[in-house]
Amino acid sequence: MAENELDGIEKNREEEKAKLNLQLSKIKSTIMVMSGKGGVGKSTVSANLALSLAREGFRVGVLDGDIHGPDIPKILGVEDMKLTADEEGKIRPVTAYGNIKVISVGYLIESRDTPVIWRGPMKHSVMRQFLKDVNWGELDFLVVDLPPGTGDEPLSIAQLIRGAEGVNAPYALIVTTPQDVALLDARKSVEFARALDLKILGIIENMSGLSCPHCGETIDLFKTGGGRKAAEDLHIPFLGAVPIDPRIVRDTDEGRPFVVSEEGLEAAKAFAGIVSDILKQI
Ligand SMILES: Nc1ncnc2c1ncn2[C@@H]1O[C@H](COP(=O)(O)OP(=O)(O)OP(=O)(O)O)[C@@H](O)[C@H]1O
Ligand SMILES: [Mg+2]
Repeated sequence: MAENELDGIEKNREEEKAKLNLQLSKIKSTIMVMSGKGGVGKSTVSANLALSLAREGFRVGVLDGDIHGPDIPKILGVEDMKLTADEEGKIRPVTAYGNIKVISVGYLIESRDTPVIWRGPMKHSVMRQFLKDVNWGELDFLVVDLPPGTGDEPLSIAQLIRGAEGVNAPYALIVTTPQDVALLDARKSVEFARALDLKILGIIENMSGLSCPHCGETIDLFKTGGGRKAAEDLHIPFLGAVPIDPRIVRDTDEGRPFVVSEEGLEAAKAFAGIVSDILKQI
């Protein structure tokens, strides 16, 4: 390869890096929502957190970092939207609930049933594009919903943000359910966050007890209290427990996060406490 070609590649790389830096410098705080185990409620927490923050008047974006199971568009009720490009050729995010900016692989695939078959480098490049080529504008919070575990997607997001000059380290928010297997896996997320120098906001224990709709008694379906115990053992904050409520499943499926459910759910009250705790830390 000729020397000037190499110079060209190098220059291009520098330009791309500068673009990423510029974009990231406009985002005050990134919150990565993680868990060790699947199906514990990360996407539910991400959507409800984004909506709660937006209702407090913050400028909020949601990056759906779950490439294989992009659930955010459905939960935020913006599944049928299409992406467009702005004058500068940047991707214009979809807008949910008036002012929440949303991006997801769900908008890039043909249909919800199309599987995404990508290896690590491809995933990295998509995460990079989602940070760099989406016109997020100025944001107070970027909430990143992630797949379970400590794979390519969380690693890419963490490294891209950690590698940007003068940009705050991302926060890690860990979601778990109370049973031992889930907690064991949550520990891995904590270790991951520590290894990558993320700021750990703490643990949320989701699906913590079920209030019986017939007798009103609380049934500890998956036990309770494990999240608090894990937080204590790992010396990180325990942010709170969100109970199981069948109405959450119904509302979520209808694109209505439970914090805006008209019924004033116990879960919404618990979540309000969690959000205020998070805001105190940030
Ligand atoms: N507190 C709760 N009470 C009742 N149902 C809940 C609660 N939290 C989440 N759910 C339901 O549990 C299911 C899984 O939640 P969600 O998709 O948020 O989990 P996840 O951790 O993002 O899953 P994945 O690992 O597949 O991305 C959804 O149907 C959701 O509506
Ligand atoms: Mg999810």
